[in-house]
Amino acid sequence: MTTKTKTVLSGIRPTGQLHLGNYFGALKNFVQMQYDARCYFFIADYHALTTHPDPAHLHENIRNVLAEYLAAGLDPEVATIYVQSDLPQTAEMSLLLSMHAYVGELERTASFKDKIRKQPENVNAGLLCYPVLMASDILIHRADYVPVGKDQEQHLEMTRKYARRFNTMYGEEFFSEPQPYNFGQELARIPGLDGSGKMGKSEGNGIFLSDSDDAIRKKVMRAVTDAGPVAGEAMSEPVANIFTIMKLVSTPEVYDDFMNRHNEGTIRYGDLKKQLAEDIITVVAPIRERIEAIRGDNEYLHKVLARGAEQAAESADTTVRRVREIMGIRPF
Ligand code: TRP
Repeated sequence: MTTKTKTVLSGIRPTGQLHLGNYFGALKNFVQMQYDARCYFFIADYHALTTHPDPAHLHENIRNVLAEYLAAGLDPEVATIYVQSDLPQTAEMSLLLSMHAYVGELERTASFKDKIRKQPENVNAGLLCYPVLMASDILIHRADYVPVGKDQEQHLEMTRKYARRFNTMYGEEFFSEPQPYNFGQELARIPGLDGSGKMGKSEGNGIFLSDSDDAIRKKVMRAVTDAGPVAGEAMSEPVANIFTIMKLVSTPEVYDDFMNRHNEGTIRYGDLKKQLAEDIITVVAPIRERIEAIRGDNEYLHKVLARGAEQAAESADTTVRRVREIMGIRPF
């Protein structure tokens, strides 16, 4: 048994079902990491509120993501798994940190500018302060590493800036600076099946962890390919994407076999897709079955969340108490 000296934390917004990209890009690595570091994995439901989701939907999505986390192998006995709003200390932390977040910086954040373009009718203050809330999630457990995708790196940079500012202002090295964590070259960028781009929740090109075997077969058989390999020419992007996914789900022998057939020009894309579909099903089917079993088990889900909230509160209370003291808010 190794002692865990580093703290890793990551959050996911409960905005829809998880897909293969989430699984290979993040979740599978979380599962491995939980044994090596003190891990906090949480469902960022406060963050989800910035886009005004339907309350009933949000509620269902939280349950789904939780069931998916657990089905993929996150173990509540090993990692701390919780819902962000079950840790209201986060909200106080966010208020305290907001005193060190300048409005000009927040307005220049890429994700904020993006939202102004995409939803000009709902540019709320929660959106503006999104990075402060995220910094609070991270700093409240004084995390060392945060596995995030490219789109979150600026938020992490801002987190480090707030940590530094806090330390400088109060003359105490209280916060360390959390670093982005990418899983070596494994930071798999999972392409979609529609020829280009990455697999996304909203792009309509995803295979979900809850998809039935038939749904997977249908989606894979519809995947974009090309007119066939041309000697001397590089592989086209849509076909390269299929091979990228195959590398993750198929055995090396199967992958090499199809690669050779492509190089020789004898490949039949129908066979390639059939094989890919079956190999995806081998990965997804057991996860889907666990999702279905867990999702309906209210008692188990409540137990997991109660335990997670309790553990998260322990670490959060310690931090918030110290931050209050350092900033001068203390009981007399
Ligand atoms: N903003 C992240 C996203 O949209 C989710 C998130 C919230 C998060 N708080 C976090 C990720 C803290 C890592 C650490 O993906």
